[in-house]
Amino acid sequence: INKKEKLINHINELKNQKNAIILAHNYQPREIQEIADFIGDSLELCIIAEKTEADIIVFCGVDFMAETAKILNPTKKVLLPEIVDSECPMAHQLPPEVIIQAKKEHPDAKVVIYVNTLASAKAMADATCTSANADKVVNLFEEDKILFGPDNNLAYFVEKRTDKKIIPVPKGGHCYVHKMYTLEDAKKVKAEYPDAELLIHPESNPELQDIADYVMSTGGMVKHVLNSPVETFIIGTECDMISRLNIELEKVGKSKNLVPLRSDAICKSMKNITLEKIETCLIEEKYEVNLDKEIIEKAKVAIDKMLSLNK
Ligand code: 13P
Ligand code: SF4
Repeated sequence: INKKEKLINHINELKNQKNAIILAHNYQPREIQEIADFIGDSLELCIIAEKTEADIIVFCGVDFMAETAKILNPTKKVLLPEIVDSECPMAHQLPPEVIIQAKKEHPDAKVVIYVNTLASAKAMADATCTSANADKVVNLFEEDKILFGPDNNLAYFVEKRTDKKIIPVPKGGHCYVHKMYTLEDAKKVKAEYPDAELLIHPESNPELQDIADYVMSTGGMVKHVLNSPVETFIIGTECDMISRLNIELEKVGKSKNLVPLRSDAICKSMKNITLEKIETCLIEEKYEVNLDKEIIEKAKVAIDKMLSLNK
């Protein structure tokens, strides 16, 4: 038994002793995904966090995801194995003051914001959404005008799929990882793999969404790739999505050719967690996510509105 196996055994022992579960987002490195009890997109992980009976949730993801778990299940201890550089930069682009200002300018609009936001911003929203349900959440409201943020590309995606007037807040809100993709990238990879299907995450620029075979959340990509007869896919989202897809394909004895649209599409904030840090996190029960009670209550209303779609 080597050092890594020992470490994994110890993590599993600690997990059982403390009644903990490990959740990992699709963008985590493969070895973190492999040790997780559940791997998923941001919506799937929200649903698990809400329902779990574990006492401790170890969240292998970025800040807003762990905060969402805490909001949905506040009596549990939610831990991030690392807090340094664990922020999703996009989540910090929509502070609550920007929402207050936008509401003043558009008093007749509802506010729908991406889960990739701070808890204090969620507390100001009428609903949250993820890339897996953004259009459906917007359609929950009768109002024609929707203030939508922070991702302007996801706003484009929603505007195209609903009859609503979508007002993006703030102007220029984006994810630096998906913003990198250009038409040139797509042309280059498609020339190399002419039979491949191009799957694009809705955080990508409109011109890429327009030429993609499918625009989908990371969870959508899992279902699509597993059920499709196509052999080669160009994956237009963070590179470790390919790890997730391979894990699921291996489980059912399949293999496909998965090509990254860009091999440098890496979300740095998702790469700080190691097996050693998970072990320490379980031993020392750090770093705990703590949120103001009032913020939790208000933010929960917005998240519950979104989750009403799944009930
Ligand atoms: P998903 O909702 O598809 O998991 O995406 C979350 C995210 O952070 C994308 O960059
Ligand atoms: Fe945030 Fe982009 Fe990283 Fe997703 S990929 S967590 S949106 S920075």
